[in-house]
Amino acid sequence: MTGITINDSLCTRDGFCSIICPFQIISPPKGGIPPKPKPEFSKWCIHCGHCVAICPTGAISHSCMSPDQCPPADYKSILGPDQFENILRLRRSVRRFKQEAPDKEVFKRIVTMAGYAPSGHNLQAVNWQIFDNLDDLNHLASMACDWMKHMLKEMPDAPHLLAFKKIVAAFDSGLDLVLHNAPSLVIVHSKIQTGVEPTDAAISLAYFDLAAMSFGLGCCWAGLFTMAAKSWGPLGEFLNLPKDHHLHGAMMAGYPKLKFQRLPLRKQPTIQWR
Ligand SMILES: Cc1cc2nc3c(=O)[nH]c(=O)nc-3n(C[C@H](O)[C@H](O)[C@H](O)COP(=O)(O)O)c2cc1C
Repeated sequence: MTGITINDSLCTRDGFCSIICPFQIISPPKGGIPPKPKPEFSKWCIHCGHCVAICPTGAISHSCMSPDQCPPADYKSILGPDQFENILRLRRSVRRFKQEAPDKEVFKRIVTMAGYAPSGHNLQAVNWQIFDNLDDLNHLASMACDWMKHMLKEMPDAPHLLAFKKIVAAFDSGLDLVLHNAPSLVIVHSKIQTGVEPTDAAISLAYFDLAAMSFGLGCCWAGLFTMAAKSWGPLGEFLNLPKDHHLHGAMMAGYPKLKFQRLPLRKQPTIQWR
């Protein structure tokens, strides 16, 4: 049950909580009377905590978070554009990994950091599965190759499957171009409730990728694996996601074996100013 309480003695009637609420479910203060949640607020509240976070005096508390639980906002630690750009440009798809899998505590922290990603309706419904057993990882890659073999049998001359031939042949000769012998694979999945979940999951994985850099980890999107897992029954069965859950994406993760020395160029974006 949602509940918003406003401490009259701390409230300065600035009205910030009312202004910031995405669904305008807090009535603005009138005269000397503090703001107050509208009767239908619990139907609309998305538990974003903006009302709690905007209040300079800690006067407002939500049943899902009190001001004491929310750390002060430290704007001084925001990186400048040059530092930020450097981090974004330093991120690379890593495909050569050291064998050791990152510690579970490290993964827990990175997943927690990825949890600060925005999500549609603030649902925060992304679920994580992390594989760090080499036999399982090899089995996953092998099943993805089985799917590719199946596709090649069905459509032997399809030009878009040309790469599959190379990947399957490489795998059969001991070279894994699907999961690149990564020591861990991170999978995101969820139920579809509003339709925005695949986007939420992709944003969470992108956050994961960036947050992982702070621990010296490197990641690589496993798009090929994801395609296989969505289409190939045995692979789906092995993942054994909860009923009604959909796989949205996967990412290899581990400590990079090699260090890039330069920042590769990328296309200049095209922008149409309207
Ligand atoms: C949705 C998505 C799927 C991808 N799938 C794969 C993949 O299956 N295997 C792989 O080696 N790289 C994959 N990549 C990595 C891209 O090849 C890589 O991002 C691109 O070449 C740019 O390199 P960079 O990430 O180092 O900037 C994928 C990237 C994205 C965003």
